[in-house]
Amino acid sequence: MIAKVINVTKVYGSGQARTEALKGVSLDINEGDYIGIMGASGSGKTTLLSIIGCLIKPSDGEVYFDKRRVRDISDIELSRLRGREIGFVFQFTDLLGNLTVLENVLVPVLFHDGQIAEKKKYAVQLLEKLGLGYTLNTRVRALSGGERQRVAIARSLINRPRILLADEPTGDLDDAASERIMALFSSVSAAGTTIVFVTHNKAFVKYASNVYEMGDGRIQRILK
Ligand SMILES: Nc1ncnc2c1ncn2[C@@H]1O[C@H](COP(=O)(O)OP(=O)(O)OP(=O)(O)O)[C@@H](O)[C@H]1O
Ligand SMILES: [Mg+2]
Repeated sequence: MIAKVINVTKVYGSGQARTEALKGVSLDINEGDYIGIMGASGSGKTTLLSIIGCLIKPSDGEVYFDKRRVRDISDIELSRLRGREIGFVFQFTDLLGNLTVLENVLVPVLFHDGQIAEKKKYAVQLLEKLGLGYTLNTRVRALSGGERQRVAIARSLINRPRILLADEPTGDLDDAASERIMALFSSVSAAGTTIVFVTHNKAFVKYASNVYEMGDGRIQRILK
């Protein structure tokens, strides 16, 4: 077991602005799982991913990461745990426009010890697999949205996280680029990384070991 979500609710705002984004979600994530999450806009997918990634806290219910109750872990330790164990790809990427593609992918390495040469090799390998081998030394501000999205994916994998959380990793991309990403995820998954990804694309369900459909703040159906 890598993470466990137990009957979690999440409420944003209060009064008229109150939104119940999650209304009681339970989910077990085991080592090696390759989980796809689908569902309508506003159904709570990003909120669930943020809770699994310990980026936000539930309003009610419990989350365990690595058998530890997340509410018992200090914020400092949580941010360390995120950096070490979790790779994130979010809908709105936060790359550094003035750095090159390769530099952006290597940013998370700055917070770890040593092995820069090995990491650089791995960064190039990831970027090549994502079809970005030609842009290594281009500044990110000169890239298209879809190219940036792929840089963010390479960055999320550079520290070989135990679990990768990807929110619509293929959102801005055409079919060929999307297939490259899913192929990369499959190879990373085969190598033992646990993956949870959100997608609107039914075609990607074939890659996942488990697929859940969310609706109205709940897991409505197990599609696979
Ligand atoms: N930070 C926030 N503050 C207030 N409300 C929020 C916040 N984040 C999400 N919500 C609300 O919670 C609900 C679930 O949002 P969430 O982003 O989890 O949906 P989603 O399934 O990821 O949607 P999409 O497919 O459009 O990305 C929505 O009604 C949204 O407006
Ligand atoms: Mg979302």
